Amino acid sequence: AIPVILDVDTGVDDALAILFALAHPGINVLGISCVAGNASLERVVENTLRILDVADAPTIPVAAGARRPLLEPARSAAHVHGESGLGTLQLVPSDRQAESISSIELMRRLLQASPHPVTLVALAPQTNLALLLRQYPDVVDNIERIVFMGGSTTVGNATAVAEFNVWHDPEAAAIVLDSGVPTFMYGLDVFNQVSIPEPVAAALLHSDSHLAQVIGRLLTNRIALGSGRNSDYTGLIGDAGALCALVDPDGLQTAMLPLRVQLSGYGRGQTLVDKRTHPGEDIVHGLAGDWEAAEVALDVDVDRYVRLFLDTLGLGSAL
Ligand code: BDR
Ligand code: CA
Repeated sequence: AIPVILDVDTGVDDALAILFALAHPGINVLGISCVAGNASLERVVENTLRILDVADAPTIPVAAGARRPLLEPARSAAHVHGESGLGTLQLVPSDRQAESISSIELMRRLLQASPHPVTLVALAPQTNLALLLRQYPDVVDNIERIVFMGGSTTVGNATAVAEFNVWHDPEAAAIVLDSGVPTFMYGLDVFNQVSIPEPVAAALLHSDSHLAQVIGRLLTNRIALGSGRNSDYTGLIGDAGALCALVDPDGLQTAMLPLRVQLSGYGRGQTLVDKRTHPGEDIVHGLAGDWEAAEVALDVDVDRYVRLFLDTLGLGSAL
């Protein structure tokens, strides 16, 4: 199994991703690092612990990291994920506590203790990863690669051009891209596509199994959050798709492309991707600045990932 550390801002679709990762035999979750994003740090930690209780995974260590981005104040995403961060899903409070060490320290210890290089899967603003890489630069030797949900080569969601996770902490994303660790971008181009058909999600919600009900609620509750635009998210497996990419890369079309984060102006937080056949050949020289190469997901076999998601969670019969 691939050893991974998840960095999350749980979050409706982070919850789906955690449940998928724990259920998949090809993924070994060493620990979970929490960051403010979809909800406050305290809510993210509590939501993560509650989801681990649903998955009956009490031994996975969970730690709290950054409560705000590197430069900017924390901002709420309650219009998408609800005040609790889990939309309309109600779960009993967890008896568990987070680790007493910060998630930066937890990640360092897990990386150094692992006999094999570890994949960091970032499903949230990348503040914790940036702090880790700045504070302990030697850990890069223990990191296989960084798979991140974030960015886009086309449309944005936080702004017309910027995706939420990168927009929330653009400097952190730039530090991660610049770290020398191989990166894989699972951005909105594919994130926005992988959706469970609404009748299937509704059937899960009304089934007898608690796990199926939780997943059905997470998939459908955005309708209930009110704002019309949330209906765009109905059925999306969201962050869980980045874990599908980890275990089933053949379900994606990808390319190695020059990538950078826009740090100023209206485009702040946008990922700029050079898709030209001869990248780097600007007509105006000297303005381009530094580009990093990243593997970028450009298209996805939706049916394949829907099937993978449901089968992994033992819910394939709902299709
Ligand atoms: C990303 O932002 C959050 O709303 C989701 O959890 C996902 O990680 C999508 O832009
Ligand atoms: Ca997330």
